[in-house]
Amino acid sequence: MRNKGIYAQHFHITPEKGLLNDPNGLCYFDGYYHVFYQYNPYHTDHSIKYWGHLRSKNMKHWEQLPIALKSDDWFDKDGVYSGSAIVHQGILYLFYTGNTKDEKGIRTSYQCLATSTDGIHFKKYGPILEQADGFTGHVRDPKVWYDRQLDGWWMLLGAQRTDRTGDTIAYYSDDLMNWQYKGSIFQFDQPYGYMWECPDLIFLTDEITNEEKAVFIVSPQGIEADGYQFNNIFNTIYLVGQWDNQKGCFIADNQMIREIDRGFEFYAPQTFVAPDGRVIQYAWEGTMWPEVEKAVPTHQDHWIHQLSMPRSLHLKNGKLYQLPLKEQLQLVNTRECEQVNNICLDNATRIQLTVEDDASSNLELVMDQEVLLHYDSKQRLLTIIRTNWLTHQKEWRAVTLSNDLIELDIWMDTSSIEVFINHGEETFSLRYFAKLPLSHLSINTESKLSVVVGDIQSYQYSQLD
Ligand code: FRU
Repeated sequence: MRNKGIYAQHFHITPEKGLLNDPNGLCYFDGYYHVFYQYNPYHTDHSIKYWGHLRSKNMKHWEQLPIALKSDDWFDKDGVYSGSAIVHQGILYLFYTGNTKDEKGIRTSYQCLATSTDGIHFKKYGPILEQADGFTGHVRDPKVWYDRQLDGWWMLLGAQRTDRTGDTIAYYSDDLMNWQYKGSIFQFDQPYGYMWECPDLIFLTDEITNEEKAVFIVSPQGIEADGYQFNNIFNTIYLVGQWDNQKGCFIADNQMIREIDRGFEFYAPQTFVAPDGRVIQYAWEGTMWPEVEKAVPTHQDHWIHQLSMPRSLHLKNGKLYQLPLKEQLQLVNTRECEQVNNICLDNATRIQLTVEDDASSNLELVMDQEVLLHYDSKQRLLTIIRTNWLTHQKEWRAVTLSNDLIELDIWMDTSSIEVFINHGEETFSLRYFAKLPLSHLSINTESKLSVVVGDIQSYQYSQLD
């Protein structure tokens, strides 16, 4: 393993060197979890996009595999863009977007297929469908899933209509090779943004109402901030409803648009269904304004960005909940903690905090003045504040909770934090780049708390034997 410098992460996937963005091709194939990701192995910028590749039997010990897909064909010469995986009859199918630009910079996208029988080496088949009329060159990010009822597969694509508005379109296939265009799957009342990236559709049983629901997840570009929501350059939203597999339509229960993660860098998540039925999500933790990206201090160590922790997704009363996986919990060694107001932080620490009385007090958690979490109990407003590494100013994101704050589960890595609030009802993700490692956490509150602190073991990595 290369030395990735003082901001090297313990339990997040980061690129060996170069740039990582979206998670791609998530699947379980032949005894391994496979994680592919958008990857520029040469530079810490977006100039080249390949598919990087890791696999693991337990999501703790990872094997670094050779680059799975390179932009070395006419149909993907300017980038092997995002896509997904399907396992069928012992074959791993990867669907991705081949990005091309002509000499004038005009973009044409191709939806492409590659397959593998060993999960390591891939054969490219090139484009597998014709682009429908009415869209610009921005049509990408195929997410394919199996429809048990129809015994066929749906493909969703993020798209931009020729009138420069965003859309998600569907194709259907009964053999994974021939795809039939089915049109737009969902429209908002008003046009919503100029391009929708990385659409996904998942099926969950609501754990409170017991209803079967479809959840449509998408990363629209060009959405204006609205109060505490949509304050990042790009954000990821979800809607809950039903999937109509006769028409190929998503029917939302209501127009309640919620952001999946309320922190800073979370974007372009992808899900897959594990063999035990869990719906598991990874996201890219790296969407940021270009000038902020240029100032990320890890450029000096020749790497940039990370994936989020894998999270399991749940639905409760029509709301998406996210929880750390049991595999992540197994990385934690709980330590004795004598006091709650000056906790020593290790480079990778989990802090679980439970409010034991009526939760009517405010609460403040301060990590060496670098990251601050504030809860205003009257407004039920939870705010997270960090220092921006470009401007050195404080910046914040906030969420109004639907219930009192009763639980916080904080996963701190060397240069990122993921916070799960009230058993996963809300989450905050953020990167931070402190000059010195954060060493202390102080908690100020009148509430009675129980605090459990754990040290988090690092992922292990090996090269393919
Ligand atoms: C989202 C995205 C995708 C695209 C990929 C290119 O972050 O822009 O739409 O396929 O990244 O790296």
